[in-house]
Amino acid sequence: MKKIFICLFSLITIHGAIAQENKAIEASMNKVKLQFMLDEDGRPVYSVNYGQSEVIKASRLGIKLLNDSNFDDHFELTRTEKKSVDETWEPVWGEVSTIRNHYEQVTVHLKQQTGQKRLLNIVFRVFEDGVGFRYEFPQQPNLKYFIVSDELTEFSLTDDHKTFWIPGDYDSNEYPYTISPLSKVDASVLAKSATDIAVRFVPDQYGIQTPLMMKTAGGLYINIHEAALKDYTSMQLHVDTKTFKLTANLVADAVGNKAYMHAPCKTPWRTIIISDKATDILASKMVLNLNDPSKIDNTAWIKPMKFVGVWWEMQTGKSTWNYSDRLDTLGADGNPIPNGRHGGNTANVKRYIDFAAKNGMQGVLVEGWNIGWEDWFGNWKENVFDFAKPYPDFDVKAISDYAASKSVKMIMHNETSGSATSYERQMDTAFRFMNKYGYTSVKTGYVGKIIPRGEHHDGQWMIDHYVRVAEKAAQYHVMLDSHEPVRPTGLQRTYPNWLASEAGRGNEYNAFSNGNNPNHETIMPFTRLMGGPMDYTPGIFKIKGYSDVPGRQVHTTLAKQLALYITMYSPLAMAADLPENYEKRMDAFQFIKDVPVDFEDSKIIEAEPGEYITIARKEKGTGNWYLGAITNENSRNAMVPLDFLDKGKKYVATIYADATDADWKNNPEAYQINSYTVNAGTKLNLKLANGGGAAVSIKLLTDNDKGVKAYK
Ligand code: NOJ
Ligand code: CA
Repeated sequence: MKKIFICLFSLITIHGAIAQENKAIEASMNKVKLQFMLDEDGRPVYSVNYGQSEVIKASRLGIKLLNDSNFDDHFELTRTEKKSVDETWEPVWGEVSTIRNHYEQVTVHLKQQTGQKRLLNIVFRVFEDGVGFRYEFPQQPNLKYFIVSDELTEFSLTDDHKTFWIPGDYDSNEYPYTISPLSKVDASVLAKSATDIAVRFVPDQYGIQTPLMMKTAGGLYINIHEAALKDYTSMQLHVDTKTFKLTANLVADAVGNKAYMHAPCKTPWRTIIISDKATDILASKMVLNLNDPSKIDNTAWIKPMKFVGVWWEMQTGKSTWNYSDRLDTLGADGNPIPNGRHGGNTANVKRYIDFAAKNGMQGVLVEGWNIGWEDWFGNWKENVFDFAKPYPDFDVKAISDYAASKSVKMIMHNETSGSATSYERQMDTAFRFMNKYGYTSVKTGYVGKIIPRGEHHDGQWMIDHYVRVAEKAAQYHVMLDSHEPVRPTGLQRTYPNWLASEAGRGNEYNAFSNGNNPNHETIMPFTRLMGGPMDYTPGIFKIKGYSDVPGRQVHTTLAKQLALYITMYSPLAMAADLPENYEKRMDAFQFIKDVPVDFEDSKIIEAEPGEYITIARKEKGTGNWYLGAITNENSRNAMVPLDFLDKGKKYVATIYADATDADWKNNPEAYQINSYTVNAGTKLNLKLANGGGAAVSIKLLTDNDKGVKAYK
């Protein structure tokens, strides 16, 4: 009773006197407690507590409709429904083989007391690790087709929390992270200076992107994002730097509207993940749980994989995507004049296929294989690429036959340069082409301003487009990796063929810009990866000297590049460097050969955003474990008890570590590899260099392992 009184009191102080009969509706699970009520004007309000700590103070909920100012207040509560769910389900692929979905659900049915008496439901799900909620618009006489002009959802925070943020850009997520208190958020600075990002649009100086990671002075970790983003636009957040109130900031379309709806319908879930342990944030399955089960019945054709690609060589300037440098002239034979540096040529592709076949990489990606790269982006052109027309030096039939003869799968590349309309027109042709030549997956791309002109990468039109591509790909049994889409919201549960996306600042920024800070990969799992796997393209071995630009380098050690295969889980994992760079260091490449892309279990051993992450994962079916430990710019000793191993079993741990004198800036490629016998009682002491990491394979001991020394 006392607690209820305190919460009521905080609501009263914010929203004025609350009608006497208006009791708070509560739902809780373990430490997480949700309260809902209507304020004196009949406006929905919620708050969230974690144990004794207030996490979200009384905050408004609601939707504003275009040309219709009367939908956000004068509600009464007509009915409350509650249910408890505790179920488990098995993802097609992932970090774990079984996921528990355990929550208390409360649905509040609201009806406006005046005017058109319209209906609005708000569904809350309270989990052990936070709260999800969404708006539902039931079928009703006075709300049929409607346009959302704003969402009033607030997340009123209690203090000036430490925040890991990127600007709220309608077109890009490819920013470096800023760590600052909420009061110091100013998105305009980065939006202006980030000239390495092709298209930028940051309309709100205090707008930031989700997933947003925060830490309170009292040591609580709070993550705000959304789940199941479909048939709506994406949510960014506006920060009130004085009161620490965040407000939903919906991405607008070409004419300034936010979302087009037709009741019955619903919004995506808004998610608040909370824990006093950073490791719990990384282990949370809330976003996945809030998504619908797979829409694809037969998923046997969906296979996680590792791949190499004709790619880094273009990123670093060794070769080109385009076949010709002479747009203006044709040769005497009437064909474009080759520049002699085109990477996607048959001989070069066969070299990658050979490397993949020899080293257990299942796939080969080739970019720059189709016509259109001569002036591929920057001109807002409607028709740029033909997705079924190879360049003259790319023999698609010979290549697919060669790949098939070596049991390697080709990965299609469909860069659209933002012309989604052109891609929509060609999509069936493109997927038929993939089926014909045995391509089982596609990497799409959206570099450039979007067509339909005026639309944004993160607006409703494009969100529908990405889903249409995933559905179309599924129809043709093709797996999908989207670059430059909206950031993921767990839709990979519903479309398990949507293996990964980029939607963040990948390793590639180390190739063509000043790169990623050494703490970047310690932040990404807490932010971008909360929504789903990223095609980060790890595994660069030649850390320096791949570019003519002075000072350009990867901002990690080589050993940290290996650890990323574990700390940044993706079912689609690229070995991104060139075969010739791997061939010089096949001892280190052994870890990339071994590391799985599908796991039975994962243990987040230790983590602190911006500082360090250590994770161990158990391979499906073998009983072997793989571990990755990374640090930011500071060196670190990661002490790792192997108590997750099966008791009574013996293993061999092969440790791929930074050399004792390694350092991300001055000596990044120095590593050492040692093997030891270990068991569940072993405690590893992994020494990580500045900007370094360690990768460890822990395999069950076999007869071939005689003579391996015990770890001390
Ligand atoms: C940007 C993508 O992120 C990158 O991987 C790709 O190579 C280029 N676009 C060209 O499509
Ligand atoms: Ca990109």
